[in-house]
Amino acid sequence: MAESAELILDGKSYSLPVIEGTEQEKAFDIGKLRDQTGYVTLDSGYKNTGATKSAITFLDGEEGILRYRGYPIEQLAEKSSFIEVAYLLIYGKLPTKAELDNFSEQITKHTLVHEDVRKIFDGFPSATHPMAILSSLICALTGFYPESLSPNLSAEEIDLNVIRLMAKISTIAAWTYKNNMGHPLNYPRNDLDYCSNFLYMMFSFPTEKYELDSRIVSALNKLLILHADHEQNCSTSTVRLVGSANASLYGSVSAGINALWGPLHGGANQEVIEMLEAIQKDGGNTQKWVDKAKDPNDSFRLMGFGHRVYKNFDPRATIIKKAADDVLTALGLEDSPLLKIAKELEQAALTDEYFIKRKLYPNVDFYSGIIYKAIGIPTEMFTVMFALGRLPGWIAQWKEMRENKEPIGRPRQIYTGETERDYVSIDARS
Ligand code: MLT
Repeated sequence: MAESAELILDGKSYSLPVIEGTEQEKAFDIGKLRDQTGYVTLDSGYKNTGATKSAITFLDGEEGILRYRGYPIEQLAEKSSFIEVAYLLIYGKLPTKAELDNFSEQITKHTLVHEDVRKIFDGFPSATHPMAILSSLICALTGFYPESLSPNLSAEEIDLNVIRLMAKISTIAAWTYKNNMGHPLNYPRNDLDYCSNFLYMMFSFPTEKYELDSRIVSALNKLLILHADHEQNCSTSTVRLVGSANASLYGSVSAGINALWGPLHGGANQEVIEMLEAIQKDGGNTQKWVDKAKDPNDSFRLMGFGHRVYKNFDPRATIIKKAADDVLTALGLEDSPLLKIAKELEQAALTDEYFIKRKLYPNVDFYSGIIYKAIGIPTEMFTVMFALGRLPGWIAQWKEMRENKEPIGRPRQIYTGETERDYVSIDARS
């Protein structure tokens, strides 16, 4: 007999079917709850609510497991490339060589953006944050591809938008930096792979020969793979919710970029570096800052520690910590004061009862900023880098939502405002 849960309300019993995933995660199906009982469930922040069934990413927060389409993140980070992982997330399988070559070639061919995009850059005030520019320009792509607005796109038309978005986001992302710096914008180079081309557009000048460093290219590949998807996080849920209204892929991803921008989500790695720099400026006494973090009367909090869903460790942090060591050693930066402070803080947190009890261990944001800084990415671009990495996940989730014909997202609420009262004319108000 199929498993179900019994809910008793006012002496009446209701049966809630139990849904089980392929990894034995279980959920009560409350899809008919309101119709049958008049009740809804209340779950602020959705900590106990499965918003969808998804076959893309499996995450076990207790065991520290993360898998894309079944493949462990550790294996993908070591053996795969960002473009291969993107294909895996979006199309559900590891590509054959021919499929990967074709996907990669298509993306490369679409990296150029319309010349009018350059003109839009001129309209942004110079203080505009790169994330604001990125989300605006990704949304503006609908103007260049108006057919993408149709809710009835064929699979081929969706694929074309996927390719365009994967290709153009790296050009636009690099240009946000160049524009903020007042540097000339570099056109993409189709002889380069995805990560190399991005680094070229970010760091080269028309006046100088640009030498790519393979250690930096491979560190970037790894970082992007580690950020490529993370099931129903805030920005991904945003993409799915916006997409559920039949909004275009560009519009949905643009909304996801704005969600990611929040300091509680993708903005965290920027906050980590700013914290490490503040500690360094203050003399580098990590114990002082650890004590401040423990002091209930002090508002200071350690950034990059703990995670909403990982309860013991973040598997991405383990990989990224080693990558940070490797990259900084390879670049001769192993004595970097920021790395030293980060390691001391990590050590303090892993051995101090206060942090252990609260499950505050370093998460993926703690070390990613150190690598980005070491490879020359400026702090205000960290969240843009996260967006670049997260794009395949957003696309895969948007596509899955469409293919499964999910209904428009429309949560309920428990109203806590005034009950009905009569309008009072302005001269009669106290
Ligand atoms: C992410 O990768 O999106 C973050 O770790 C946040 C999350 O999963 O909630």
